[in-house]
Amino acid sequence: MEFSIKSAAPEKLRTDCLLVGIYEGRKLTDLAKALDTMSEKAISAALKSGDMEGKTGSTLLLRQLSGVEAPRVMLVGLGKADDASLKGLRNSFRAAVKALPAGVECVATDFASLSIKKITVQQKASALAEVVLDATYKVNAVKEKSVEPHPLKQVIVLAEKADQASVEAGVSQGHSLGQGVALAKDLGNLPPNICTPSYLGKQAEKLAKEYGFKIEVLDQAAIEKLNMGSFLGVTRGSEEPPRFIVLQHLHGKKSQKPVVLVGKGITFDTGGISLKPGADMDEMKYDMCGAASVLGVFKALGELKLPLNVVGLIPTCENMPSGRATKPGDVLTSMSGQTIEVLNTDAEGRLILCDALTYAERFEPAAVIDIATLTGACVIALGHHVSGLFANNDALAKALLAAGEQANDRAWQMPLWDDYQGQLDSNFADIANIGGRAGGSITAACFLSRFAKKYDWAHLDIAGTAWKSGKEKGGTGRPVPLLVTYLLEQAAK
Ligand code: BES
Ligand code: MN
Ligand code: ZN
Repeated sequence: MEFSIKSAAPEKLRTDCLLVGIYEGRKLTDLAKALDTMSEKAISAALKSGDMEGKTGSTLLLRQLSGVEAPRVMLVGLGKADDASLKGLRNSFRAAVKALPAGVECVATDFASLSIKKITVQQKASALAEVVLDATYKVNAVKEKSVEPHPLKQVIVLAEKADQASVEAGVSQGHSLGQGVALAKDLGNLPPNICTPSYLGKQAEKLAKEYGFKIEVLDQAAIEKLNMGSFLGVTRGSEEPPRFIVLQHLHGKKSQKPVVLVGKGITFDTGGISLKPGADMDEMKYDMCGAASVLGVFKALGELKLPLNVVGLIPTCENMPSGRATKPGDVLTSMSGQTIEVLNTDAEGRLILCDALTYAERFEPAAVIDIATLTGACVIALGHHVSGLFANNDALAKALLAAGEQANDRAWQMPLWDDYQGQLDSNFADIANIGGRAGGSITAACFLSRFAKKYDWAHLDIAGTAWKSGKEKGGTGRPVPLLVTYLLEQAAK
């Protein structure tokens, strides 16, 4: 997608389609008023006929307005003027992009100039760039003929001269973020016979080369050397070799402690010997979306060149049943030395993450954030709208919640109280890998907390938010927006 910023008179712009906002109650924005006058009241006439009220999400396409150079003017409902919010702007703009006819390759909008209380021009411009990438995203489907890209290629953001620098900064930020989101979606959507642990390793190497990150991709032998017995217990049943990816974006001061991101990279989760039921099992290809979000964040970091030190850790393997697979009752020795009784081989995410959390200690991190499609229980608790957040530090939790709020990628904090820890007691090892049905997402977080005692740590359970099922099946790229917004905040400090 190409973005440009212009202050030209909208009626003279050469573009395929001009987007013009209408507030609820058929109230014209300034741009709508100007064009209405120029076009002998064509806009008022369309509204009077009852074709459009201005509700958020509604659109109406007008053609060949007299006095307007662009062949199409799309009226876009903005909702009630008094309730204007960044979220509303995102929704209106998304609806407009989705409603564009196939012949539109270039669109112009003044939406970064619409006034919204407490929201800066930069924030609005960033949201517009991010939304247009999200709304024009096409699944990288494996078809006989390659998938046609979305026809929209160019977006002109109209802004007054005084605002142009802010718009420019916002657009560039939103564009970077949008590219990170798209990478996370792409990796999630790939079939699991293509997106294997070695494939993720190669993608990480490709990113590192493109943006100058430091990279190590550890193979089975190197993982064995590190004594990651818990991670190795999960990969045992699979013919695909595991990888442990270490990516480093080092653009902060040498003395600055890094933020470490840890992503769950199960490229397919059958459940192992505790085999999952067959229905919808294909969706377990998305069990590497935590890993995909870490790579997505690194893509955005590479584009943004933030003055920060960020480390990405990705333990990645398959969870398969086989004659060699770990069995219920097996006891594994984690890298930390703590032993784990595997009571259910389908609770494998925590088993690969715990060793990565121990590995993270060597970076003396400012904070460690793990991201994982960890529990079905989290989906039962919170549904598909928000991610579950757990943390051993309140300031970190608050910062992540605020970032999610700002990025329209929200999380909700769940308790991580000691009351639940007893559910993980084992007669045969230091800890069991499951804690029963009650509070399943909480006991999963409690398990991880045992390996995250040496630093400030947060855990995002994205089981309900990382992908959509049904007709719109596909990765969402979440929580890349939350994480990048959090890192932008850290860099601004
Ligand atoms: N990857 C799944 C969690 C999951 C399930 C995410 C469905 C999204 C949709 C995870 O590895 C898993 O299987 N968890 C088990 C844990 C249980 C055995 C304690 C679960 O949630 O059922
Ligand atoms: Mn599982
Ligand atoms: Zn899993």
